[in-house]
Amino acid sequence: MQVVETIAEMKRVRKELTGPVGFVATMGFFHEGHLSLVRKARARNPSVAVSIFVNPAQFGPAEDFDTYPRDLPRDLSLLEKERADVVFMPSVAEMYPPGFDSWVDIASVTDRLEGASRPGHFRGVATVVNKLFNIIRPDVSYFGQKDAQQVLVVRKMVQELKMGLEIVALPTVREDDGLAVSSRNAYLNPEERKAATILHRSLCLAEELWEKGEKDAGSIRQQMRELIQKEPLARIDYVSIADPETLEEMDEVRTPALASLAVWTGRTRLIDNVVVE
Ligand code: PAJ
Repeated sequence: MQVVETIAEMKRVRKELTGPVGFVATMGFFHEGHLSLVRKARARNPSVAVSIFVNPAQFGPAEDFDTYPRDLPRDLSLLEKERADVVFMPSVAEMYPPGFDSWVDIASVTDRLEGASRPGHFRGVATVVNKLFNIIRPDVSYFGQKDAQQVLVVRKMVQELKMGLEIVALPTVREDDGLAVSSRNAYLNPEERKAATILHRSLCLAEELWEKGEKDAGSIRQQMRELIQKEPLARIDYVSIADPETLEEMDEVRTPALASLAVWTGRTRLIDNVVVE
């Protein structure tokens, strides 16, 4: 496995890779969610590239960029085990040299949900993903459905800017009790960890209500909110039942519908979603 830290070296290494090249973009601190993407890339492509870069541009000023969990030695040994061919792990200065001022803005789908709660977040994501695609030139890139809005933003960027690669979304990997695995779960103390199951439980409630014939999206959102409010350690940021393509909130549920939410558990903000179909 080649470990590459500069753009120039990455471009040189890329020329030697046998295509198609499968690519997984990450911020490191690997868990089973990340590894599921790497395994799929490995199973389907002769060459696999993975990036590890905690991207400052997608964190707000009051967010956790400085404390974001990192463990490079462990990440590299996991990637070795999964037989990745190349790991690209540039420094912040390599990706954003002084004077850097080119940004990719995907409008409309970024002004709601995560975009509304985290202004500038998707500009940071789209810019870094675009730059990584330009450097690595993958044929196919794998993303987690856990970040449903991120998948939508990346797909829209690739399609509208004619970037000429395939985007594959893979299912959310969960713990046994339903909690979506996430690097930020590391912030939770044992009580918060228990309370965090409320996200998945409220998504299951949405599915159940739909299956029982509830068509009023407002009523489903309300019942999800009431369930979450019973958990004293949880604080709702948003609860949404929206069109999975436009992210517009629904009045009457039409399938497929994207049920998604962001909930603070103590000082940790967690997100999750399911597609109701
Ligand atoms: P990061 O949070 O490290 O996630 C990297 C990839 O793993 C993303 O595609 C994410 O959706 C996926 N992932 C996270 N948790 C998952 C889970 N429980 N099941 C399946 N997949 C999961 O997302 C980012 O990094 C960044 O925004 C990035 C795209 C790298 C741009 O900086």
